[in-house]
Amino acid sequence: MKGSAALGAVHEGPSAPDVSGFQDPATDFSDGLKVLLAYHERFLVEGQRLVAFAATLAQQGLDEAGAAEALRLAEWYENAMPLHHRDEERALFPLIVNRSFLIDGMIERLALDHDEIEASWGELAPLLRRPEEIANPKHLSQVAHPFEKLLREHIVRENEDFFPKLETLLASDRRRDIGLDMARLRGRQLPSG
Ligand SMILES: [Fe+2]
Ligand SMILES: [Fe+2]
Repeated sequence: MKGSAALGAVHEGPSAPDVSGFQDPATDFSDGLKVLLAYHERFLVEGQRLVAFAATLAQQGLDEAGAAEALRLAEWYENAMPLHHRDEERALFPLIVNRSFLIDGMIERLALDHDEIEASWGELAPLLRRPEEIANPKHLSQVAHPFEKLLREHIVRENEDFFPKLETLLASDRRRDIGLDMARLRGRQLPSG
């Protein structure tokens, strides 16, 4: 059965996975939609940083700070994106599917977006992972910009079209259950009782 009678903070347990210094942008798992929104906010910030990195690379070439930033960006997306897509696809979508044609259509579209974003990331990741091998900064820019745009437009669609519908569809206890599921997916220990 989903959920727990006990509300409150979800504490990180000893079995929490080590994700090599990755700091989860979500700190409060008592509301699943808030977890997703915390990720969205941070994705938008990192998208701006990615675009800034591409511009600096084109103007100044790669220095030590630029190489570090490329690796930091790679690390961020490689950790955050699978977690976020898994939160949506495993903790949220199954709970709201088959309620209406409109919602089902939105879920289908959003899941397709995830595939497209991940495919785009598949082109960008090797460049950020080995920035010293970027022979042509223009190429990095040509790959980074579509990725940033895809992800940003997807987030705007979720924030502006999808989440407002969920707010009326999901009672607060369901939002709590979703948050607890997200915590479980991270191997976090839940409060007992
Ligand atoms: Fe999404
Ligand atoms: Fe999202």
